[in-house]
Amino acid sequence: MITVNENFLKLQAGYLFPEINRRAAAFAKAHPEASIIKMGIGDVTEPLTPAVVEAMHRAVGEMGKRDTLRGYGPEQGYAFLREAVVEHCYRNRGVSIEPDEVFISDGSKCDTGNLQEVFGLDNVVAVTDPVYPVYVDTNVMAGRTGPWDKAKGQYAGIVYMPCTAENGFVPDLPDRPVDLVYLCYPNNPTGAVATAEQLKKWVDYARENKAIILYDAAYEAFITDPDIPHSIYEVDGARDVAIEFRSFSKTAGFTGVRCAYTIVPRGLKAWRKDSSSVEIHPIWSRRHCTKFNGASYISQVGAAAVYTEQGKKQIQEVIDLYMDNAAVMCEALGKLGYAVYGGRNAPYVWIKTREGIGSWEFFDLLLQRAHVVCTPGAGFGAAGEGYVRFSAFNLPNKVKEAMERIAKL
Ligand code: MLT
Repeated sequence: MITVNENFLKLQAGYLFPEINRRAAAFAKAHPEASIIKMGIGDVTEPLTPAVVEAMHRAVGEMGKRDTLRGYGPEQGYAFLREAVVEHCYRNRGVSIEPDEVFISDGSKCDTGNLQEVFGLDNVVAVTDPVYPVYVDTNVMAGRTGPWDKAKGQYAGIVYMPCTAENGFVPDLPDRPVDLVYLCYPNNPTGAVATAEQLKKWVDYARENKAIILYDAAYEAFITDPDIPHSIYEVDGARDVAIEFRSFSKTAGFTGVRCAYTIVPRGLKAWRKDSSSVEIHPIWSRRHCTKFNGASYISQVGAAAVYTEQGKKQIQEVIDLYMDNAAVMCEALGKLGYAVYGGRNAPYVWIKTREGIGSWEFFDLLLQRAHVVCTPGAGFGAAGEGYVRFSAFNLPNKVKEAMERIAKL
């Protein structure tokens, strides 16, 4: 008799974004005349930049000729992209990362979801609350948690670290030992950033407690404040205890192309039960080779074009457009009297709903009365209740219109 992996049965409802789409689609069906403005999932609206398009056309051309066709590539990514990442994302900030520590993939969602596989099931996982749901759900699937506690809105066995307006949405160190810590800055969903000093506390904690930090820096390109670190490796000692994720999705409009990378430094270790240490780099490499055949050549050529002079200039213009949207949203929502967070170094704006209005209630209200889709904070965890998130990935005229509709409402 085939049995099911019962860990999957612990998962709550559907994944957040399909549920939002389901509600928006049901509303659209019932009200075909409504022009809905989607500020829910952070999906890009600007096209790929010309430098990327041109490079990808060239790559398609190569794939169309026997002499230049590329079949399976290196599972860890082509050297040209791994070297470009090191040069333009790390060495330029004085951070020492080697090309063979860069693992190219088809997305940070997959990488942040998959990496937990290389760690033991008895590790204690710590996440921020609110949190990007992938970190939690993949640990539930793996069997690293107990059942869902409905009253608390949490899974047993996970250490949830509340991120509130009071702590600037950067968690305090946990009050009990944890092994695997997920941090994401600039943060999804709150748009908060972590200073070097705050990250140093976490790096020191991980070093002292033999823990590992999974650092999701998918939104680093949106940092405008020069004092905010783009990489956890800007903090001394982080190479020994942190794995970093980055993505071309939001940075260069690759949500539909798929390309990202993960840094697994050599020397970063976990421990066997007999207390002898083992390096994670070869294990992740082995796992990559077994379960992944590499991101497409065309995607990787497109990604490398992001680092050309033209490419850099062009993606910066797009990032500026999204960040102008964020500024418009912060100003408009602030004027309406909402407590507004994020939106300065991140493409997400996080607001507190009016007293007593739950996240989903506010979501439904905006959808039904303003025809605007946001993301309910409660979908990111219990501490997100009473908040909603707006994505700045949109056309400027739509953002302005959405803000006008909300003001009228
Ligand atoms: C979000 O809206 O939180 C993101 O777009 C989701 C993702 O990147 O998977």
